[in-house]
Amino acid sequence: MTLDLFGQHATDQQAGAALGLRTRLTFRGNIAVGRHGWLRLTPAYSLHLVRELLKGCGPADFVLEPFSGTGTTPLVCASLGVRCDAVDINPFLVWLGNLKLTRFDGGVADDLRSASTTVADRARARGTPLWKPNLHQIEKWWDPPTLVALAKLSDAIREPTERRTDRVRDLLRVAFCRVMIQSANVSFGHQSMSFRKARDEAALVEETPQLVAGRLADAFEVAAVEVADSIAVEPLVTECRVYLGDSRDLPAALPGCGRRYTAVITSPPYPNRMSYIRELRPYMYWLGYLSDGRAAGELDWKAIGGTWGCATSLLNTWAPNGHGGIPFHGFDRIVADIGKDHALLGRYVHKYFQDIKGHILGLRQVLAPGARCHYIVGNSKFYSTMLPVEAIYAALFEDAGFVNVSIEAIRKRTSKKELFEFVVSAFAP
Ligand SMILES: C[S@@+](CC[C@H](N)C(=O)[O-])C[C@H]1O[C@@H](n2cnc3c(N)ncnc32)[C@H](O)[C@@H]1O
Repeated sequence: MTLDLFGQHATDQQAGAALGLRTRLTFRGNIAVGRHGWLRLTPAYSLHLVRELLKGCGPADFVLEPFSGTGTTPLVCASLGVRCDAVDINPFLVWLGNLKLTRFDGGVADDLRSASTTVADRARARGTPLWKPNLHQIEKWWDPPTLVALAKLSDAIREPTERRTDRVRDLLRVAFCRVMIQSANVSFGHQSMSFRKARDEAALVEETPQLVAGRLADAFEVAAVEVADSIAVEPLVTECRVYLGDSRDLPAALPGCGRRYTAVITSPPYPNRMSYIRELRPYMYWLGYLSDGRAAGELDWKAIGGTWGCATSLLNTWAPNGHGGIPFHGFDRIVADIGKDHALLGRYVHKYFQDIKGHILGLRQVLAPGARCHYIVGNSKFYSTMLPVEAIYAALFEDAGFVNVSIEAIRKRTSKKELFEFVVSAFAP
């Protein structure tokens, strides 16, 4: 299979830059497209890629997205009239995904605009709130006046009013998240989040807390209008849903009722030690999905590829289970080589593929005969040892009885010359 990833908009330069850094194939390509652009979250992949992979799917198909993340796959499906069930282990992402998939009534956008004005007015008039999230080193994220201003907005959204529906409140929370992350001292220029230099004392003195609260309340109203406007873009024609569950046991995670999926389009976590929980902490703390570091580490341990907080110490004592053998020639050697440089990382890679093996074995049970699967994966390098992630996925699919397994490189990932993204495709027998 060859993907037409640039479609008719390809410039000569794009088309010619075989496997160059293709922005269109990353989350950056989603930002201007309706609900896809609500929050710029690290886990997302490109909606253009999903559209390409969905070509040929129609109302008779049923797509499965086992690692939903920000819900790119089900949202594209819902706008194209293709049924889709999705699963994610992170409750915040399940909430966000289902909100994006909601078919809002006509008046919701107007209700959101007027509710945001009420919230902003109340936040401007509020005294200093008592609550702030229990986020480790919160002062690195926001300077004190900004933190107070955010807490005022958060309080004002939570305040009960007779007229506000749950849906409008959820959309207000999305607008809040946009302002919260825009006002944080963080940058997302790299693969994962990093802290920026905080504003210096002089700049802080110039702006009174009231001015900061007013500025953020204004920004909140703007964000709410952007969210309200985005609702009408690419209307949703099919009901799709994200389920909270563990994709290592798909039969238990999905609603059952004998559903058999005809296609899988997904981007699983990569074995690169990036922690989605670490990246999503500010959202999860402010919205009440996390209340302490321990819970953050525990959730990361349940996630495939997680190594944040206590997940790291749990990995220290992890040992492969009896079914832990990975059917890829040379796998044990790769793990041993990585382990020589760093014992924990050897175990990390082994556990990652043991988890993916369990996932692929469970997948077989929920697929229709002939179902096609497309996995977007990135390879990794640990010290001097290359980890051929795409080839190991292909071997796992073949071992589980899938046929016509293929690998296609789709883009270069970073400035490191060896790192690429691939589509691994396989068909259920
Ligand atoms: C690369 S992201 C998915 C990106 C997604 N395609 C998008 O566009 O947003 C991987 C996702 O897998 C989820 N995940 C990790 N382990 C999981 C598990 N055991 N079961 C279900 N989801 C899991 C993570 O929470 C994360 O959202």
